Amino acid sequence: MSQTSRDPASLTVEVDDRVASLLAEMTLAEKIGQMSQINIGDSYIHDYQADAIRAGRVGSVLNEVDVRVVNRLQRLAVEESRVGIPLLVGRDVIHGFQTVMPIPFGQAMSWNHDIVRAGARVAAREAARSGVNWTFAPMIDVARDPRWGRIAESFGEDPYLASELGRAMVEGLQGDDMASPESIAACAKHFAGYGAAESGRDYATTNIPENEMRNVYLRPFKAAVDGGVSTLMTSFSDIDGVPATANEFLLREVLRDEWNFDGLVVSDWDSIRQLCVHGLTENDEAAAFEAATAGVDMEMHGDAYARFLEGLVEQGRVNPALIDAAAGNILRIKFRLGLFENPYTDPEALPPPGNADALSTAREAAVESAVLLKNEHRALPLDASSLESLALIGPLADAPRDQLGTWVFDGDPSMSITPLAAIRSQLPGSVATEYVRALPTSRSRDVAGFDEAVAAARSSDAVILFLGEEAILSGEAHSRADIDLPGAQVELVRRVREAGKPTIAVIMTGRPLTLSNVVDQVDAILFLGHPGTMGGPAIADLLFGVASPSGKLPASLPRMVGQIPIYYCQKNTGKPPTPDTVVLLDDIDPNADQLSTGMTAYHLDAGYEPLFPFGHGLSYALFIYENIGLCRDEMHIGETLTISADLINASDRKAAEVAQLYVRDLYGSVTRPVRELKGFKRVELEPGERRRVEFEIGSDDLAFYGRDNRLAAEPGEFHAYIGGSSATELMTAFRLLA
Ligand code: BGC
Repeated sequence: MSQTSRDPASLTVEVDDRVASLLAEMTLAEKIGQMSQINIGDSYIHDYQADAIRAGRVGSVLNEVDVRVVNRLQRLAVEESRVGIPLLVGRDVIHGFQTVMPIPFGQAMSWNHDIVRAGARVAAREAARSGVNWTFAPMIDVARDPRWGRIAESFGEDPYLASELGRAMVEGLQGDDMASPESIAACAKHFAGYGAAESGRDYATTNIPENEMRNVYLRPFKAAVDGGVSTLMTSFSDIDGVPATANEFLLREVLRDEWNFDGLVVSDWDSIRQLCVHGLTENDEAAAFEAATAGVDMEMHGDAYARFLEGLVEQGRVNPALIDAAAGNILRIKFRLGLFENPYTDPEALPPPGNADALSTAREAAVESAVLLKNEHRALPLDASSLESLALIGPLADAPRDQLGTWVFDGDPSMSITPLAAIRSQLPGSVATEYVRALPTSRSRDVAGFDEAVAAARSSDAVILFLGEEAILSGEAHSRADIDLPGAQVELVRRVREAGKPTIAVIMTGRPLTLSNVVDQVDAILFLGHPGTMGGPAIADLLFGVASPSGKLPASLPRMVGQIPIYYCQKNTGKPPTPDTVVLLDDIDPNADQLSTGMTAYHLDAGYEPLFPFGHGLSYALFIYENIGLCRDEMHIGETLTISADLINASDRKAAEVAQLYVRDLYGSVTRPVRELKGFKRVELEPGERRRVEFEIGSDDLAFYGRDNRLAAEPGEFHAYIGGSSATELMTAFRLLA
């Protein structure tokens, strides 16, 4: 009988039985051995590493992707160690393996479960071919600070969107059957609150009250656990004084006791020994004690467990049952992956990397991951038949490595098709193109190429500027305090604008940027997270109207850095700003000695709104929402109701739109956000078509952690909004009754 046709409960019992009988055969040292992960890499196994595996002192390796070496490592573990337990083989497969999908922040712009799932499936297949059976993805940290370099790896600012897309990524990686040779184990990271690093400085301290932790940062993790994610990784951060890697509240009380997670928890890279650096523990032995008792099952690249756990058990300080539980969590995942049955990898049994299916998924993902921020005078799409010449300008027009973005250990830049190459091959021969890089890199201040760029713009019918951030400006330990377009790019835009030609900006980035200083200088902006291998063809499809943009922002774009954090799902405050209470510095006589403001929560120099709100994204079609309605205007706890609106495609082209449902809970035992995303749907409409978009919402969807930090829906009044962004005003109201 195949595993998939079996009842999951009986499989769990069977796996648990196998775990128990294996543990019964193992020595304490072998159990602790399972709790260590070592870095291999470089296609070379040192003698001391081979000896450690043979001696049963290693449960997992990371960073080796040469399949022959991986098979050799497995042979050492399976055939040459006493208990013969196969290894977990970990690798950061964050947004693709050889075929690179858009960065997760870009994929989040698609608001499309299916494309995120499909991209992860391609990544799993390609990685599995190298013998990798475990990836450290998805990163589902809610990220509300665009200065943080790792926002690139996130699904943005909203817990619901991150929950939905995180779960889709887990499904793609793990598949329906994790024991399939095409599946790998996923890892939800970084548990928890890593995205709240002070001032967006990677690794910096976080202070997150329990209520906010539960209502915001933990929600995507709960969704991932409910969705069957196999593993979790702790965060590097200090949370309210107790670093995540020693945080018993998170790792035991919440994760194990409340959520019943039975998978494995791995530390982040050396984060156990870092407990000393944080100033939590005196030495590595104390760090091993804190992490193990808090509930970290495996140590990633560090030796605190290997050196001290056995002694701690012998001294009676660590209960042997705790070691059994940790080793058991690790073995459980190995059984679920089918590693005991199939420890070796036959690459020929899996499809080759970069095949047609992988590339078409990557192209579709990139098309759907582009947000049309503005499009004045219908500057886009460009009509190739009415153009004679086109200037292609900027440091990211032809940057095969940079379009892949951060975290692409195995991504192959030689597979990238750049926008320059794609546009040249997709345009008819009748259109002449002139390419000027203008800046050697995105962060360069060398303006020597600007005259040539301006000349190219002057002699062309239209200009496309390829701007943004090169890959190394985002990702781990790559935070920025200034999130304008880097280098001399703002000046480049101003200079090119002097040519007076229709000007389109294509921005490829690792984070939300502040675009106030360029937004009025260009006619249209197409905004993408680094789009991956097939970024070029996708961008060409969008520029020339083969496809219409359908992406939506997964994070607000601030006007200026001082507004951060700015996110749609904020609290109302006691003095909420409204358009008529906002007096801006620019509107006040500069010589006035009194500033009489509206006394509400805004900045004198920035107002209270972002430049572009969460959920925003235009289309080449024109979508109109009207007639919001409810099936009834009351429901009791335990019931559901349907909220719907008409969506009209008031244009002559077929296109897709992401319709969004937001709810506001008007009062509660703790104050509630002004809006919360509760549903979204991608809808494709024919020209002129009108369709009713329906969302079903149950009282469970309205539940939140209240003053007692328990999850419950509270009776009261609610507003519901449907529209094409978080700023929609199309509203109705309902009541929740006890
Ligand atoms: C990162 C993790 C990553 C790990 C292994 C750490 O520095 O924080 O996200 O999975 O390295 O590469």
